[in-house]
Amino acid sequence: MAVRDDVDAVILVGGRGTRLRPLTINTPKPMLPTANAPFLKHLLARIKAAGITHVVLGTSYKAEVFEDYFGDGSDMGLEIEYVVEEEALGTGGAIRNVWDKLRNDTVMVFNGDVLGDTDLNAILETHTSKEADLTMHLVRVGDPRAYGCVPTDVDGRVTAFLEKTEDPPTDQINAGCYVFRRELIKDIPQGRVVSVERETFPQFLESGRRVIGHVDVSYWRDMGRPDDFVHGSSDLVRGVARSPLLEGKTGEANVDETAGVAGGVLLLGGTSVGRGAEIGAGSRIDGSVIFPGATIEPGAVIRDSIIAAGATIGANARLSNAVIGEGAQIGARCELRDGMRVWPGVVIPDNGVRFSTDA
Ligand code: GDD
Ligand code: MG
Repeated sequence: MAVRDDVDAVILVGGRGTRLRPLTINTPKPMLPTANAPFLKHLLARIKAAGITHVVLGTSYKAEVFEDYFGDGSDMGLEIEYVVEEEALGTGGAIRNVWDKLRNDTVMVFNGDVLGDTDLNAILETHTSKEADLTMHLVRVGDPRAYGCVPTDVDGRVTAFLEKTEDPPTDQINAGCYVFRRELIKDIPQGRVVSVERETFPQFLESGRRVIGHVDVSYWRDMGRPDDFVHGSSDLVRGVARSPLLEGKTGEANVDETAGVAGGVLLLGGTSVGRGAEIGAGSRIDGSVIFPGATIEPGAVIRDSIIAAGATIGANARLSNAVIGEGAQIGARCELRDGMRVWPGVVIPDNGVRFSTDA
């Protein structure tokens, strides 16, 4: 892939990840492990694979975690710079805030929580060939209400931007990746909270800026809610969603080499098992994300769940669609399901939660 030193990448990673609590109490959302790498590392690898090497991270919540992990980016063949918002400035304020770091007229901005397979160079090609001021990556989804709804005309020109509207006029939504002509970023007000979705994009449209949609049908998922996080991680592990980090390493499970997996364990459905985790004999883990240092005792049955670092799941416990916070202890034979979330350090005694007597 040719080097694209004509493009800067900016990644917005300053959100609080509220919908993923309690996982995000100590770890910012883009750093949560997915297929045994921080989610952001998969996105950085995609950016690198597209030939872009200069990346600016717009951080705020738990800002130091990013630089501690990625440093100057040279390990990944990137040049990463960090711009910290002391008080979160919103998505638009965050983009304005990195202005001084930009080197090129073409700026590709990413939401830091999107998993996708889209060809980034194809988006850049649309931006250039359509002589756009701003190009937006758009995808179609089943329920557009949770996203920015973005109708386009027959020429692909964006006609409106409706953030999280109850009655969306189309199923075409903002996929969270934009190409800006750099000058437009200067128009965003400086030093205050700005939502690029609610304020900046509608203003660009009103003032007649040439805003173009790049629609495609490749894999796309926002990782911001537990069910999407679980399914996105599973899709990465199984290769349904591709990551340059996992080429030749996809399969039913991704197990860190330092994890201990006892006999008779079934790891299925794109489960990942992190560093130093221990999986007890005869347990069955399906489509789940086991963070580093978690312990699963023998005979547990876990499905579509997230077990945070250092948590313990007791023998013969059953979990389905559950989120277990750091260091929490779930007693033997407990049953948790239907989106239940357990906060860090909480201890649930043996037999402490049951839904039926025959389990
Ligand atoms: N630096 C910084 N500062 N980053 C922020 C801030 C901030 O104040 N607020 C949010 N972010 C980052 C988040 O960390 C995340 O990576 C990204 O901006 C988007 O924020 P989310 O909170 O995940 O937004 P959303 O998922 O509800 O909606 C956005 O993404 C959808 C697609 O995934 C919108 O852009 C929608 O229009 C879009 O459809
Ligand atoms: Mg999101």
